[in-house]
Amino acid sequence: MTNTIDLQGRNAVVTGGAQGIGRAITERFLDSGASVAIWDRDETLAQATAAELKSRGRVIAVKVDVTQFADIEKARDATLKELGRIDILVNNAGITGPNVTTWDYPVDAWQSVMRINLDGPFMCCKAIVPSMIAQARPFEIPMSPCPQSSR
Ligand SMILES: NC(=O)c1ccc[n+]([C@@H]2O[C@H](COP(=O)([O-])OP(=O)(O)OC[C@H]3O[C@@H](n4cnc5c(N)ncnc54)[C@H](O)[C@@H]3O)[C@@H](O)[C@H]2O)c1
Repeated sequence: MTNTIDLQGRNAVVTGGAQGIGRAITERFLDSGASVAIWDRDETLAQATAAELKSRGRVIAVKVDVTQFADIEKARDATLKELGRIDILVNNAGITGPNVTTWDYPVDAWQSVMRINLDGPFMCCKAIVPSMIAQARPFEIPMSPCPQSSR
């Protein structure tokens, strides 16, 4: 049995929503009545996914690299312009990095994981949560191990 919740009238941002778990979340949100902005650094795939899912609800694709704050601010502004407001943020974009021992782990690979999985959710919360608080119904879903946004 499909577990659905009523998200009619809600607008969600799903980072890394072009594929994998983020795409599955996007599909469930659409089926639950929400509009979804897929935020992904893979613009081609994000657009293809949005095109595939558009029969299930309102879905847009926004190119963003969650390690770049200026990029995130641009994506937020584009999303607010298109959808009007953001009610739900799913910080899903993330990478696994190499599966090797600590001493074999390249420092630049470690830093890349930290930038995407840790800095990314922080910066997305920083950019989006103020507008959610202003409308008094924030709802953030962290996927990577990261500090929760605090109000
Ligand atoms: N797959 C698993 O078993 C598993 C387990 C635990 C946690 N997770 C976490 O769940 C999340 C999704 O996992 P998945 O397996 O669906 O991953 P995936 O690789 O299938 O999809 C990740 C998406 O994030 C996007 N992305 C990556 N870096 C980005 C960036 N800097 N800016 C914007 N978009 C970016 C990619 O383009 C891709 O579309 C990740 O955070 C992952 O760490 C996954």
